[in-house]
Amino acid sequence: MKIKKGIPLIDQHDKNGMWGGKFGGSFVPETLKKPIEDLTKLFAKLRKDKSFIGERDYYFKNYVGAPTPFIRLNNLTDHLGGAQIWAKVVSENPGTAHKVYASLVHCLIAKRAGKKYVITDTGAGMQGFNLAMAAKKFGLKCKIFMGLRDFQRQQSNVRKMKKYGAEVVTVTSGSQTLVDAVSECMRYWVANCQSAHMVVGSTVGPNIFVKICGWAASQISRELKVQLKKEFGRVPNKMKLINCVGGGSSAYGFWSEFIEYNKKQVQLIGVEAGGSKNGKLHAAPLTNNSKLGILHGAKAYCIQDSDGQISETESLSSGLDYPSVSPLHCFLKDTGRASYTSATDEDALKAYELVSRLENISPSLEPSHAFHTAISLAPKLNKDSLLIVNSCGHSRKDAEIIKSRLGYYTA
Ligand SMILES: Cc1ncc(COP(=O)(O)O)c(C=O)c1O
Repeated sequence: MKIKKGIPLIDQHDKNGMWGGKFGGSFVPETLKKPIEDLTKLFAKLRKDKSFIGERDYYFKNYVGAPTPFIRLNNLTDHLGGAQIWAKVVSENPGTAHKVYASLVHCLIAKRAGKKYVITDTGAGMQGFNLAMAAKKFGLKCKIFMGLRDFQRQQSNVRKMKKYGAEVVTVTSGSQTLVDAVSECMRYWVANCQSAHMVVGSTVGPNIFVKICGWAASQISRELKVQLKKEFGRVPNKMKLINCVGGGSSAYGFWSEFIEYNKKQVQLIGVEAGGSKNGKLHAAPLTNNSKLGILHGAKAYCIQDSDGQISETESLSSGLDYPSVSPLHCFLKDTGRASYTSATDEDALKAYELVSRLENISPSLEPSHAFHTAISLAPKLNKDSLLIVNSCGHSRKDAEIIKSRLGYYTA
């Protein structure tokens, strides 16, 4: 299994849509084959269409506010001693998370496809809020599927989705989290694929959804490359790009431009959700060497029991609370290009506390998992090393959880 140079990773799949012949694919019911084929053809055409790319870039600049800041965290660096810590503050956009990119791109595609409404799944509510906001901008109707448990713990985002006129459908099956929301959204699409455009909230699902989401989120690493060259004159050596991994879209978006670099120059570290330090459940399939399974139309490593049934997961952070992961990350793991570890709920809370106390940024619980890894690594490295964290979400959505766990919350 090898990564090719000069070709984006999203395009390195075989004719069955599988990366490394093993991950991904498009395992869907017969009724979805034609809509998926149509979307695949449309996306292939739009990617080469200069007017579409112009439109995307116009809105990246004038809607997202690209580029998002790239800053050195001086206080945190001095406090820890050792490697320099930097952040790409992706949360500094109107959608306060990286979900803004794919939401925007999907709405532009839906318009070109002549669809009147968009549907999606959401866990942390960031995907739902961002799609609701983009749909409103482009005059599309929007329906969002959200597990009841997430609906209750991410109320501020529910209010935002409703403010933008979206219909929020609570899902009461299974664990009432992201995994059930994705299943319900896909079921709805099977019955309504003629009129609705489906948006999958991460680089998961049937092959075409992995590709569109990854393509949209790659804006993060395109910006970072320019910012690195401006700051250091080149892409520096001894750089580690650290990102949390739920489905894996922010990590893919943060890494995509750097995947073909030598791993001694640019190391890619993914941080999954390890759950509570006292609990048995987690949401870290890559760290725990979970077996291959099929979930939501794709083959990937999934947390499952000995009969192959998808297991329950647990994480304080709704955005990472998912039993599987993108086929892109399974491929990156098996090729050895990226390495994966996990952080517990308690680690993430401590990292949130330290970063938001010392710096003028306030990461949500998802990127706080990545900050934990950076904070642990920094003192062991010298000041020539660069640890760059994708601060892909703002803590505001987690205010109630943080307050209940730490006794206070300041944005
Ligand atoms: C702020 C934030 N970060 C990270 C994630 C995890 O998703 P992904 O791994 O696709 O980036 C989510 C998902 O909802 C999120 O809202």
